[in-house]
Amino acid sequence: MLIFLIGFMGSGKSTLGKRLAKKMSWEFMDMDNVLEEQEGMTVSKIFDEKGEAYFREAESQLLQSLDPSVNRVVATGGGAPCHKNNMELMNEKGVTVYLRMHECSLACRLEKARAVRPLIEGLQLEELRKYIRQKLDEREPFYNKAHCIIKGENVKPDHIISLVFGNSDY
Ligand code: S3P
Repeated sequence: MLIFLIGFMGSGKSTLGKRLAKKMSWEFMDMDNVLEEQEGMTVSKIFDEKGEAYFREAESQLLQSLDPSVNRVVATGGGAPCHKNNMELMNEKGVTVYLRMHECSLACRLEKARAVRPLIEGLQLEELRKYIRQKLDEREPFYNKAHCIIKGENVKPDHIISLVFGNSDY
């Protein structure tokens, strides 16, 4: 079974995903890391050298290649659910969980982590806030198609387990 954690950049998908996978003794995959290994360069470099369209295609191919019979938690890139038919694909292949976060929490977290994210790296704080507001408006219709939606601030692996399995006895 696959559990896809989806949500905006900075919503904690990778950190939570690792902890969740560890707790359940499942495999963990961070899509950005897999793509970086595949391409032999950072996500920022892929955007710079090959362009966003190339990255989106690679993201989609990676999702298509996933085996739904493997027990794995997948931390997706923030834009993955919003391109191609990726959201439908993830909903068919596994359980999708949207870590919904307030735009202020996102701004706070992303302010410190701009450098490694090509879509926001050059933005000043006010521009960053505006970008988050605009992008959230665009992206939430996709994120809201998730099977489960949970408040991302302070979310713990056990919350996801009870949301997905109905209890902590998975
Ligand atoms: C992106 C989010 C990033 C990464 C790329 C594009 C986006 O992943 O895939 O920089 O479009 O929101 P994280 O959500 O893990 O930061």
